[in-house]
Amino acid sequence: MTRSPTRSGSAPQDADAEALRQRALAALLTARERTALLTDSVDDHELTSQHSPLMSPLVWDLAHIGNQEELWLLRGVAGREAMRPEIDGLYDAFEHPRATRPSLPLLAPAEARAYAAEVRGRALDVLDGTALDGDRPLVQAGFAFGMIAQHEQQHDETMLITHQLRSGPAVLAAPVPPTATDAADLPAEVLVPGGPFTMGTSTEPWALDNERPAHVRDVPAFLIDTTPVTCGAYQGFIEDGGYAEQRWWAPEGWAMVHEHELTAPLFWHRDGGQWLRRRFGVTELVPADEPVLHVSWYEADAFARWAGRRLPTEAEWEKAARHDPVSGRSRRYPWGDEDPAPELANLGQRHLRPAPAGAYAQGRSPYGARQLIGDVWEWTSSDFLPYPGFSAFPYREYSEVFFGPAHKVLRGGSFAVDPVACRGTFRNWDLPVRRQIFAGFRTARDA
Ligand code: AVJ
Ligand code: FE
Repeated sequence: MTRSPTRSGSAPQDADAEALRQRALAALLTARERTALLTDSVDDHELTSQHSPLMSPLVWDLAHIGNQEELWLLRGVAGREAMRPEIDGLYDAFEHPRATRPSLPLLAPAEARAYAAEVRGRALDVLDGTALDGDRPLVQAGFAFGMIAQHEQQHDETMLITHQLRSGPAVLAAPVPPTATDAADLPAEVLVPGGPFTMGTSTEPWALDNERPAHVRDVPAFLIDTTPVTCGAYQGFIEDGGYAEQRWWAPEGWAMVHEHELTAPLFWHRDGGQWLRRRFGVTELVPADEPVLHVSWYEADAFARWAGRRLPTEAEWEKAARHDPVSGRSRRYPWGDEDPAPELANLGQRHLRPAPAGAYAQGRSPYGARQLIGDVWEWTSSDFLPYPGFSAFPYREYSEVFFGPAHKVLRGGSFAVDPVACRGTFRNWDLPVRRQIFAGFRTARDA
């Protein structure tokens, strides 16, 4: 990349608009660095092969990232003609399911890289020449640029999942996350008193359509785990025969356990008396104090029932994460309104694993819950539904077509989520059978 975040724009602007432009530029550059890391760390054969039928070949994600950027920043914001109209269909996620993508005439790795780089060069010119302080919703506050940076980061997380599913020796490395210093003294759960709070946002400039608008929810008192459920606690469920007892499971979950003969989280296997797991090409002992990862919604739901508890609703999760009982307002993040920083949360693939339960004391919420942001995505009991007053923007296929009981909401973001695609209001969703995503959970109960 030849451009730096200090490059100055050409359009007339005030200091706020210039700050937004720098923020958008930095977000786009950060995303592309990560995309390069994930796609340059394997050879062309690995880029074009399918590591799991659940995932696209990495080279598909790479060109899709470029194609969406072309669609929204070059065609959408700047009104340009399609650069390569013949490839649009190949990279439309709705035209081709993941399992069939390897058989498509996809751009080869060198072509995909060149295409994404060409789009990026032009997109930075568009960013330079577009006023971000006007009334046009797509560019207001730099929305389209923020949306595209988030989109690339979301596919970077998807590509990291593909890395986790690939076989062969490790190609990625990262320092270990910070340990928890006072974990032994933490209460198991925190109380969130009943009452209204503001859910969602109408002011966060780059919040996506499904996070809007802000609205008041009345949430009765509940207790929620201080930290995500650990591998050690989850082993208790396994050792107690959790996977063999129908009474803990939702009917579809019980069917899934039998069809796939599930006995433990994905990537775990038993070796003599111990549980081992494979992480990015390295086999290790399952760490007892780390939040459990790679469990489906059905497994999270069954564990909670076994523990005499339940999953939190999405509204409970958000109230525990954002509500400030002193001011009565909702924060952007559990710790306050400041952007994430390394001492507050485990985000951005800075580490390749969640931190031990109880880490990031500085990132705790007003009620004392920890690790709500970062570490592991957290399954909630809620279906993915629109908020009252929802309106699809800028396209129905981002959120609206997924609303309904088929998808469950996940909150908080994992170690693999970049800060640009993570906040107290951010909503993720997936099918309740999914296990390859970086998902864990915490449990709750009525007060
Ligand atoms: C919000 C993570 C479910 O990856 O399917 C990427 C994000 N949307 N391209 C997904 C997304 C379009 C989406 N999730
Ligand atoms: Fe996409």
